[in-house]
Amino acid sequence: MIALEENPRGAESEALLQAIGIKRVFGRGNAAVTALADVHLTVPAGAMVALKGRSGSGKTTLLNILSALDEPTEGQVLLRGKEITGLSSAERSAMRRKQIGLVFQSFGLIPLMSAYENVEFGLRIAGTPKRGNREAAERALARVGMKERMKHRPMELSGGEQQRVAIARAIAHEPGLLIADEPTAELDSKMGLQVMRVFRDLVNHAGMTIILTTHDPGIMELVDHVIALEDGRIGSQTTNNAPLI
Ligand SMILES: Nc1ncnc2c1ncn2[C@@H]1O[C@H](COP(=O)(O)OP(=O)(O)OP(=O)(O)O)[C@@H](O)[C@H]1O
Ligand SMILES: [Mg+2]
Repeated sequence: MIALEENPRGAESEALLQAIGIKRVFGRGNAAVTALADVHLTVPAGAMVALKGRSGSGKTTLLNILSALDEPTEGQVLLRGKEITGLSSAERSAMRRKQIGLVFQSFGLIPLMSAYENVEFGLRIAGTPKRGNREAAERALARVGMKERMKHRPMELSGGEQQRVAIARAIAHEPGLLIADEPTAELDSKMGLQVMRVFRDLVNHAGMTIILTTHDPGIMELVDHVIALEDGRIGSQTTNNAPLI
């Protein structure tokens, strides 16, 4: 999150993700809405970063651009030093399938499939060769503490458990970057904390980098860096030297 010169570890090579001068305008003429204006940020590898800001401040718009689901009107995004803005849409999906995992507020699991089938199906639609998919799906479910319940369908699981299955689906292909838009918004604080502990484990023990958005002030204490968006611009950036998890 921090600008390079403020990065205590200093080295530019440690930046996993960089956004340079991102602007995003929706619509045109009188109806044009500037959702992001000149956003610069650097996310160091191995960090857990929260984006906060009031509704409409541009959080989802920024996540969509960082994950190459959307293209900025101006500016560049670099993942491991390689520009992802400007790739063709086929190149962008190929890059996402390898390097990025996505988690959403509403879990997005398929109701008729078990937890295991949801994760395995995720690997299949991403085009991963079938060999090893079972092991990869089970490994991901074990990582989020859901292997014992993997035969259950989503409706037989709590919200927190469903979100953990959705995280397993997002990490089964072992991406380096996990992007989560309000992953705890539909959970009570206890289940939200479980999800945050899973994220912390992924950052500390699986070498992942996580960017999430949230409205929950409690979550700001759990992450490494907090970036506040204000009307499409970065208002402040803070670092937690001793996150609570
Ligand atoms: N596809 C779109 N077309 C037009 N305007 C859009 C579109 N997507 C977002 N916007 C506008 O861009 C601005 C930023 O929206 P965004 O969804 O990024 O906010 P947010 O911070 O994620 O809000 P929330 O906390 O409610 O999720 C808003 O003014 C929104 O109305
Ligand atoms: Mg949003």
